[in-house]
Amino acid sequence: MILLMCLAIHLDYQKKLREEINETYPDGNIADITITQLQQLKYLDMVVHESLRLLTTVPMNMRNVSSDFKMHLPAKDDRGAITALVPKNTLVVLDVFNMQRDEAHWGPNAKKFDPEHFAESKSERHPYAFIPFSKGTRSCIGWRYSLLLTKIFLVKLISSFEFQCPGTKLEDLHFTEGISLKFHDSQKINFQIRKIP
Ligand SMILES: *[C@@H]1O[C@H](CO)[C@@H](O)[C@H](O)[C@H]1NC(C)=O
Ligand SMILES: *[C@@H]1O[C@H](CO)[C@@H](O)[C@H](O)[C@H]1NC(C)=O
Repeated sequence: MILLMCLAIHLDYQKKLREEINETYPDGNIADITITQLQQLKYLDMVVHESLRLLTTVPMNMRNVSSDFKMHLPAKDDRGAITALVPKNTLVVLDVFNMQRDEAHWGPNAKKFDPEHFAESKSERHPYAFIPFSKGTRSCIGWRYSLLLTKIFLVKLISSFEFQCPGTKLEDLHFTEGISLKFHDSQKINFQIRKIP
């Protein structure tokens, strides 16, 4: 799971998450996790979203245009603003992977894994700057379920195990394009798991 690798590389975020989980479950009883409890775990939410932003599971999305529309592109670098007509039946590819790590939307640390990108103070951003499950009428129907499942897994794993990736740096890894995100050089990932006594 890519998210676990991010936390294994960033031990400080992993520690912070473990502390939050410990505060919510001080007696360590995580057998029954309720949705209300999951909603209280704000840092968990930030961590999960940050992983979906930086290393989104579905790096690109395609749409077949159902009717002609005009697309306005603001002026950029040395070219002025453009209005382009996109005709019906054009196949449009949304480059979600690069959009979600674009400095224009996410600031100077856009290419770094930092859960603070989802801090409440930073909630004002373009509504389409984060679309890991796509958006609109054709968004992924399983997103709530998959988020809940991911969070339950994480609470259980993080409270019992410690994850480390000594020597692995996120910026050294490359990805292969495809329907879902995959590492090109996974042999570089030195993933280690240790049970917490
Ligand atoms: C959780 O918190 C309690 C009380 O603050 C502490 O005694 C315990 O060691 C903590 N457990 C972990 C796993 O950090
Ligand atoms: C888009 O949909 C139309 C109508 O179903 C189809 O004829 C056309 O081939 C599709 N375009 C692409 C690029 O898939």
